[in-house]
Amino acid sequence: MRKKIVAGNWKMHKNAEQTEDLLNELIAKLPTETNAHVMVAPTFVNLASAVDHLEFTNIEVAAQNLHAAEGGAFTGEISADMLKSVGVTNVILGHSERRAMFHETDAVIAAKVDTALRHEMTVLFCFGEELKDRQTGNHFNIVENQLRDGLFHIEAKNWDKIVLAYEPVWAIGTGETASPDQAQEMHQFIRETVRKSFGNDIADNVSILYGGSVKPDNAVEIFSKPDVDGGLIGGAALKADDFVAIVNSI
Ligand code: PGA
Repeated sequence: MRKKIVAGNWKMHKNAEQTEDLLNELIAKLPTETNAHVMVAPTFVNLASAVDHLEFTNIEVAAQNLHAAEGGAFTGEISADMLKSVGVTNVILGHSERRAMFHETDAVIAAKVDTALRHEMTVLFCFGEELKDRQTGNHFNIVENQLRDGLFHIEAKNWDKIVLAYEPVWAIGTGETASPDQAQEMHQFIRETVRKSFGNDIADNVSILYGGSVKPDNAVEIFSKPDVDGGLIGGAALKADDFVAIVNSI
């Protein structure tokens, strides 16, 4: 059985006090029994306190990035070992904002995936096409290439540490979502692409999250699609009530 997951990507939002406030609200409002594994990804400086805060809850913490190197002269960067040392075992990699604004290529992301797996971290691997790709009918190719070039070099045994997050760039932070049918069509394509290279067991067990303007009022319909196993949530993860409503939609 593949896992249902709802992860909140807080991006560059929430200072220390606001992080604590939002976590307290989530602890109070999230049901203790849910069908979904819940994760939150605060900024680097608030990860350690988030891990402490969430110690006796079932909310997990994820980092938003890491550097591929084990350590060294990389001013401003954070290593996998540093994340592990404060109790973070999940990491978002390949987010479209990292790809677009920080020039992360598939090769850079592939190296980060290797580092994360070497440290036995779970990777939320993000990918998705831009608007022009969809308009020109190239979206399936783009998505397949991102998977092949950034992820498919891994060994079959590591797939239990991989969560896929399909996020069409045109739907991120825009208020525009892929329709539930568009999401299902792409998620099914992704699962079949995994199946071709890695077989039934891995394809049927990998969780594929949808991301891009998921809100309380569209989550039920998107999550009801058979190949959508949850969501990676940006804007709506910053308000406890919205995030809780999305988790409850699973
Ligand atoms: P959004 O962001 O929900 O604000 O569109 C999703 C993401 O970037 O992961």
